[in-house]
Amino acid sequence: MRLNSPKLNIMYKACMKASKSLIRDFGEIENLQISSKGPGDFVSSADKRTEKIIIDELLKAYPDYGILSEEMGKINEKNKTNRWIIDPIDGTSNFLNGIPQFAISIGYEEENEIKNGIIYDPIKNELFFAEVGGGAFLNNSRIRVSKKKNLKNSLIGTGGPRSNSKLKDQIFKEFFEVSYNTETPIRRFGSASLDLANVACGRFDGFWQRELSYWDIAAGIVIIKEAGGFIDFLDGKTDESKKMNIVASNSIIHNELVDLIKKKNIENN
Ligand code: IPD
Ligand code: CA
Ligand code: CA
Repeated sequence: MRLNSPKLNIMYKACMKASKSLIRDFGEIENLQISSKGPGDFVSSADKRTEKIIIDELLKAYPDYGILSEEMGKINEKNKTNRWIIDPIDGTSNFLNGIPQFAISIGYEEENEIKNGIIYDPIKNELFFAEVGGGAFLNNSRIRVSKKKNLKNSLIGTGGPRSNSKLKDQIFKEFFEVSYNTETPIRRFGSASLDLANVACGRFDGFWQRELSYWDIAAGIVIIKEAGGFIDFLDGKTDESKKMNIVASNSIIHNELVDLIKKKNIENN
């Protein structure tokens, strides 16, 4: 594996250490599902356990780097230059239901730009990673986005809406519109980081989703770009404390996908 940059190396170590405990925890889920209490509390402690292992490893290597992590929030907030962006389990509902589609996602940000990203699917043992200027990889192989030329023949993924979303009607209209313009049914796999990894390695030709958080997408941003793809914010980049609306693609079908999503919204206004 070509993890020959110091940052990627540390991220990899943290990720592998955390994934051992995560796989063990996933093995417990089946037993808990049939118990009357259900696995809810256990999953939230698995989330925290995984996060702690990752954060401890990263802080051991770079004690004064900032951290933005889903469960723990911010650490070393004063450091605005170097920051890790962490989602310890992306795909929690899948994890909770014993569905093997979840990942650890870690991005490294320098001067507000994501420089390195790792997305690890511990069940398939698939490690997606990239460093700015160094290309994107899946385990030992270089990855590239697909070469699909039009939306009609493309495989598109999405996610959401959240149960309490104020954008539900709009999101369903977008789904409707994209569905009418693609031959293969839209995929919804429930782990945004893996959805982005799927675009990067050409399994998906495009992906869009509203109301994501920065930790869902940070690692994916650099992995998609380094794989030759394009990732963009639907209504301009929002503040990281807010939800983000994104479109990612192989670049070629990007405008077609964005125009379709926006067309529907313009019609509604
Ligand atoms: C969620 C997953 C899911 C997406 C949600 C995210 P979590 O992250 O990425 O695919 O639809 O919006 O919140 O909660 O499993 O870390
Ligand atoms: Ca997430
Ligand atoms: Ca999470």
